[in-house]
Amino acid sequence: MRDRYAHARRSRLGVSIAVVALILAACQGGGEDGGDAGAYPEQEVTIVVPFAAGGPTDTVTRLIAEPMAAELGGDIVVSNVEGAGGTVAADQVANAEPDGYTVLMHHIGMSTAPTLYPDLAYNPLEDFEMIGLVTEVPMTFVGSPNFEPNTMEELVTYVTENIDTVTYANAGIGAASQLCGLLFETATGLDLTEVPYDGTGPAMDDLLGDQVDFMCDQTTSTTDDIQADAVKPYAVTTPERLETLPDIPTTAEAGLDIEVTVWHGLYVPAGTPQEVINALNAALVVALQDEAVVTELTELGAPPVAEDRATPDAHRALLEEQIEFWRPIIEEAGVTAS
Ligand code: MLT
Repeated sequence: MRDRYAHARRSRLGVSIAVVALILAACQGGGEDGGDAGAYPEQEVTIVVPFAAGGPTDTVTRLIAEPMAAELGGDIVVSNVEGAGGTVAADQVANAEPDGYTVLMHHIGMSTAPTLYPDLAYNPLEDFEMIGLVTEVPMTFVGSPNFEPNTMEELVTYVTENIDTVTYANAGIGAASQLCGLLFETATGLDLTEVPYDGTGPAMDDLLGDQVDFMCDQTTSTTDDIQADAVKPYAVTTPERLETLPDIPTTAEAGLDIEVTVWHGLYVPAGTPQEVINALNAALVVALQDEAVVTELTELGAPPVAEDRATPDAHRALLEEQIEFWRPIIEEAGVTAS
């Protein structure tokens, strides 16, 4: 079985190296005029991940945190704030000081939450400034090692025949895994029994232990387990097969109208000064071109976005478009968190 925390450990090491670099830079810059003590960042930056450690959002965040910290000349810590499909963390960041020291990494869930949560306490478009897009991640349907079906077609048949006992793991309402399950339900007309977790990191642990039957999770989480034959792979949710998983058919090949990729972006609270947004964006752009980040994300089926998409404008435009795209789909499915 793969070491699912290796990315995180490597990234923590890298962030520690960045701290040492910061101390050295401070010593070198400590001349008579006090150097650039007024420049951002003057303290540790926290990137809040809205799901548990060991999952796909956590993996992407920890990968980019190290080169972002190096570029900023500061320290970045990653904090997992789980709950309510990512909305607890988003609410926390929306209400944080708009000073650039609290940053949110979130995914497609930022666009589905306004429809899924009628009482959502924040407005994704008004309460945040966008820093830029990060990556767009394909999803995969996977089953536990001893789950009976071996193909996507067999999966649909099996779930149909055993609808009362089959369990589908996800990371709560608003998670990408929940959204993918919703698309499965819409495509098949089946009503899944969902088992929600704080993130698909812990969900995958239970899947590997045969405690839940199947899930749909991002390739940043599933690729290593699929390549190690630790889970049963059924289908990828992209129109074409993936170079990293060439033997896994697409959902379309299996006759299912399910297509989704999970875009990620960085946010700060509305009112954050423009210079801080610019600094964070510059650090993001550098991180997305970092050789190790490009290699690792590409190997996980999710190369970084092109530079022209790692911008606040491209990010805002996509969020606006996605809120409108998902609203009718979710409304038609009749799913809400209330
Ligand atoms: C999701 O389903 O939204 C993600 O996989 C959650 C996570 O990053 O754990």
